[in-house]
Amino acid sequence: MNKRLFIRTYGCQMNVYDSDRMAESLAPHGWRRVQSPEEADLVVLNTCHIREKAAEKVYSELGRLRRLRAERVARGEPPMLLAVAGCVAQAEGEAMLERAPYIDLVVGPQAYHRLPELLARRAREKGAALATDFPVESKFDHLPERSGPSPVSAYLTVQEGCDKFCTFCVVPYTRGAEASRTVAAILAEARSLLAGGARELVLLGQNVNAYHGEGPDGRTWSLARLLEALAELEGVLRLRYTTSHPKDMTADLIEAHGRIPSLAPYLHLPVQAGSDSVLEAMNRGYTAADYRRIVERLRAVRPDLALSSDFIVGFPGEREADFEATLDLVRQVGFAQAYAFKFSARPGTPAAAMRGQVKDAVKAERLARLQALLAEQARAFNEALVGRTVPVLIDGPGRHPGQLVGRTPWQQPVHLDGAGLSVGDLVPVTITRCHAHSLAGRWEAGATGEGRA
Ligand code: SAH
Ligand code: SF4
Ligand code: F3S
Repeated sequence: MNKRLFIRTYGCQMNVYDSDRMAESLAPHGWRRVQSPEEADLVVLNTCHIREKAAEKVYSELGRLRRLRAERVARGEPPMLLAVAGCVAQAEGEAMLERAPYIDLVVGPQAYHRLPELLARRAREKGAALATDFPVESKFDHLPERSGPSPVSAYLTVQEGCDKFCTFCVVPYTRGAEASRTVAAILAEARSLLAGGARELVLLGQNVNAYHGEGPDGRTWSLARLLEALAELEGVLRLRYTTSHPKDMTADLIEAHGRIPSLAPYLHLPVQAGSDSVLEAMNRGYTAADYRRIVERLRAVRPDLALSSDFIVGFPGEREADFEATLDLVRQVGFAQAYAFKFSARPGTPAAAMRGQVKDAVKAERLARLQALLAEQARAFNEALVGRTVPVLIDGPGRHPGQLVGRTPWQQPVHLDGAGLSVGDLVPVTITRCHAHSLAGRWEAGATGEGRA
């Protein structure tokens, strides 16, 4: 019998990857994915705990789903099961069942391979099933390989968890200690993704550049070494990795950016703040000058490298002068894209209990100033592409018939006339126009263009 599964994903790319893996682990048990909760027999919310807003969204969504379920029962239809997965499930566990006792299943990020068993248990027994332990066995040993055709760009988790304990962050608690998959497991998954049509591999990890997995030679491989091996695989046109920590931008990884042509010249390197005292209170382990030096070294080996970043404004103790140091750093480095957030006090993290909490009005005002500067830099970056010929990886059909859409190494979508091109091609494209959220371009058949990925 076909059972219908709906998954709503919040938070980071790791959750997107995990949602696919959950669907795959349920597929052999007759579950197929549907497009809306209305048609589903099981609704999974794959949640994010990073900021208060993200976590609260889950409860309002659960309230909506509970009403949907009641309406179905009132119509005489069978009710659907409600499951909560991801980082809120991990962080709140039992507390979640107290606040929303109508949930059927709570499953943390390390227990997804147990979903079929948990569903069976739920069907057998009364009461919710809860799985938020960190098992010794790895979920990766159990989840089946991705099947069927993959999109051109595929996520591949290589590392999970974090040992950094930045004072504001819940991730070390929700994802657990840093763990790297073995090189053999990653290469096998990469081959299967490539065989399914993927041309770009995006390596994922909460601290992806802290990767230190066991290699086939029995030694520990770094991310740089892993990237070299992946670049050798047949069919790889572009490689990316996210999210990195500045402290783990080692010399060999920086050099890899100069050495590996398919490694995209684009790096998400969260800096969080430009003030050294704030960085220290955050326990980030680097200064603003360290960060600038890393960027200089990267640009020395790969001059077309662009950066994106994350920022937190209004961290406890942040004064106007500290905030201005953040603005200065942004002006000095120049970002192609960035995300800025108001500090959100997360239960159980050291920063939540620090003195000098900043008023929301001040946070809002700083956020607006920072976002204005970042938006101006992003616009300038995109506009500077007009007239340049850059490598574009064709992703799929565009807006109009005959059009295709692809992406530059810096991730902007480019719309172009698709005649003679296929999905999965990497071709030189001259950028002709810059719109608010995309670019337009022209394929230069026969040209080599600049850049390599
Ligand atoms: N591992 C990554 C970040 C993962 S969380 C790193 O080390 O940079 C993604 C982003 O959310 C962070 O970079 C940070 O900017 C933001 N963030 C995390 N905790 C936050 C909090 N308590 N309040 C506001 N923003 C937060
Ligand atoms: Fe969170 Fe990233 Fe810091 Fe780890 S390194 S604690 S994931 S912000
Ligand atoms: Fe959110 Fe968990 Fe990712 S807290 S950002 S879903 S690791």
